[in-house]
Amino acid sequence: MRMILVGPPGAGKGTQAARLVGRFAIPHISTGDMLRAAVKAGTEMGKQADTFMSAGQLVPDEVVIGMVVDRIAEPDAVDGFMLDGFPRTQPQAAALDVALNAAKVALDVVLLIEVPDDLIVGRITGRRMDPETGDIYHVEFKPPPADVAARVVQRKDDTETACRKRLSKYHSETAPIVPYYRERGLLRSVDGNAAPDVVTARIEAVLAG
Ligand code: AP5
Repeated sequence: MRMILVGPPGAGKGTQAARLVGRFAIPHISTGDMLRAAVKAGTEMGKQADTFMSAGQLVPDEVVIGMVVDRIAEPDAVDGFMLDGFPRTQPQAAALDVALNAAKVALDVVLLIEVPDDLIVGRITGRRMDPETGDIYHVEFKPPPADVAARVVQRKDDTETACRKRLSKYHSETAPIVPYYRERGLLRSVDGNAAPDVVTARIEAVLAG
């Protein structure tokens, strides 16, 4: 299974990916997680990316494309992958096509998780991450258990100001790739405005159909 998860910030891509990858035995490849790891490691690329990410801007295509093309060529991704947060621009979608064509493989599905803008800010500003496990929580919708609560952190780009910039970038840069995949018959959409278990069931139904 080669699939892409698309959706606005806070749509639940990371939450749903964590539930789905085990079922398909494919790696979850999140460009956001890869970039945050580079920031944490203090690499040159991480330092460059940090400025863009903290401001709610997209990291330049040339940085992200090379990172993903290398990652999907690794042995664990040869038989499939779940891309989360990539592609996010038309040049990224085109570059992914080139890489997949060169490897003589094709995408199976592009899954769009739709959530209205007015719910996004609350989801993003309330998100907390466990730095040890990467587990995602929410102060209201999924509070961390007592033994984890003391160590959860808030992402630097989860402020209301950065969230609104990310949402605006989603509409201007990322939403335009949706018709590209719809025209090729790859797009499936689910309504992400429901409890996480309900959204998972909707995704499973769509993927089975
Ligand atoms: P990235 O990490 O990809 O962020 P994003 O796309 O903005 O998505 P999020 O991680 O914010 O949200 P999500 O959809 O995964 O939601 P989650 O499941 O956590 O990218 C970060 C930055 O990196 C970008 O802004 C950019 O700078 C850079 N970047 C990354 N990829 C790039 C690329 N390809 N090109 C250029 N730059 C790139 O859920 C959110 C919250 O809601 C959580 O608290 C969760 O508990 C809660 N929640 C989830 N589902 C539900 C539900 N059903 N009901 C209620 N609450 C829910």
